[in-house]
Amino acid sequence: MIEFAPSILASDMMNFQAEARRMEQAGARWLHIDIMDGHFVPNLTFGPDIVKGLARVTPLTLDVHLMIETPMRYVEAFVKAGAHWVTFHLEAVRDAQEAREVIQKIKACGAKAGISIKPGTPASALEAVADVVDMVLVMTVEPGFGGQKLIPSCVEKIPEIGAMLRQAGNMNALIEVDGGVTQDNAAGIARAGASVLVMGTGLFKAADPAAVMESVRAQVEA
Ligand code: DX5
Ligand code: ZN
Repeated sequence: MIEFAPSILASDMMNFQAEARRMEQAGARWLHIDIMDGHFVPNLTFGPDIVKGLARVTPLTLDVHLMIETPMRYVEAFVKAGAHWVTFHLEAVRDAQEAREVIQKIKACGAKAGISIKPGTPASALEAVADVVDMVLVMTVEPGFGGQKLIPSCVEKIPEIGAMLRQAGNMNALIEVDGGVTQDNAAGIARAGASVLVMGTGLFKAADPAAVMESVRAQVEA
């Protein structure tokens, strides 16, 4: 089963409530929220209060993607704000030990824990957390901005990560893909083993987002 996670970065930001509702009505069950700190990535977006506001107005599963330094410092605030999933970057922590501690912290706070890698980071860098993580988010663009073009070589990491998770005995972990996912490339990504598709531009800027989701689902099943 494919989950679509529309990224509110591409929405009409003066109308979050209506935009979340529009995606819900189109058939999405998740909502992706990109948190950027101006240090880990060269852009700034939202803090926990926006997540808290969204949690009040939408039943969608809130999928928070932290593109920030020192993620440990903010985990609790985002979970308390209503994040169901908190994903941080492997490149934002010192070592595997700290990555495991952040994962543990996310879970202890009551959310599901994801870890993400940028395009330049190999899948093998995730080996030390493969047994404990609930989700791996594969970035298919350099994080920081919506509306970029997917880097095809990043898709090759997906089957490798799937094998690594199974090897670690982690049968339930999800693989999410983020960056430049469109109606035309989504099915290939799903066939490679991803089950959560982040789509910003591809859904929010589409004339008919429900048709985009239906088309991708039909292509995956075909
Ligand atoms: C990029 C963000 C993405 C972004 C995706 O740094 O992590 O979630 O919103 O947007 P699109 O789908 O437009 O590439
Ligand atoms: Zn994202």
